[in-house]
Amino acid sequence: MTVHFVGAGPGAPDLLTLRGRDIIAKCPVCLYAGSLVPQAILDHCPSDARIVNTAAMDLGQIIAEIRRAHDAGHDVARLHSGDLSIWSAMGEQMRRLRAEGIPVSVTPGVPAFAAAAATLGTELTLPGLAQSVVLTRTSGRASSMPQGETLTNFAATGATLAIHLSIQNIARVVGELSPAYGADCPIAVVYRASWPDETILRGTLADIRGKLGETIQRTALILVGPALAGEGFDESCLYAVDYDRRYRPQSADSPWASWNEETENG
Ligand SMILES: C[S@@+](CC[C@H](N)C(=O)[O-])C[C@H]1O[C@@H](n2cnc3c(N)ncnc32)[C@H](O)[C@@H]1O
Repeated sequence: MTVHFVGAGPGAPDLLTLRGRDIIAKCPVCLYAGSLVPQAILDHCPSDARIVNTAAMDLGQIIAEIRRAHDAGHDVARLHSGDLSIWSAMGEQMRRLRAEGIPVSVTPGVPAFAAAAATLGTELTLPGLAQSVVLTRTSGRASSMPQGETLTNFAATGATLAIHLSIQNIARVVGELSPAYGADCPIAVVYRASWPDETILRGTLADIRGKLGETIQRTALILVGPALAGEGFDESCLYAVDYDRRYRPQSADSPWASWNEETENG
């Protein structure tokens, strides 16, 4: 018996991996985080599966549910939205399961920040503008931020920020980022990326609050940084016509001219 953690993706049912779908289809028990995992993903469960929404359960109740499946020899699909590597609460569940000797596996999913970037049609790492993406959040009731992980500190890098779980703190976000990025820095808010009611708001740090009003209260990503402008960036060297590289040596004298996989591996 194994507990299979599966990243269920940002919302659109076809943004689930094939591996994730197959695991869901073979597990007689499915536990899912009901606030963000859509019904269409659960349609992959066997028709007689035990399907449990864990939205209203505490950690002890979730582990007890898994323990019951374990005692019956039933595999469990444990679904969380997006990918499991960020804000999934997988870590605390895994720690308890490992302590009880219950085997686990992990199948990644499409994270919300990637879905939001796709919705915007934007590359978040544009040469000359930003080469790093910071996945972060502001503190909430359930989680405080470690010292040093402040928006002000991240803003000092100039990187693209993908700010999760924070739409209710938009005033604070704008206030902390404006000194470093400037009032005219582009910002986008993507509500429920990939869902049918997906909504995009674009603006600057100066005007985004006015555009948002009270319309969006949750399940939104805030993307900020110069790269969001989508213009004024350099082309990378990778596809430059005269760039000498392993796969495109420019002359017989190129160090790459005699390279092949055999010389590298042998
Ligand atoms: C508990 S975190 C889950 C993150 C998830 N594990 C991931 O990989 O994206 C929930 C936050 O992720 C963001 N989020 C999740 N799904 C989203 C979506 N479809 N569109 C926009 N933001 C989303 C929001 O900031 C939301 O408050």
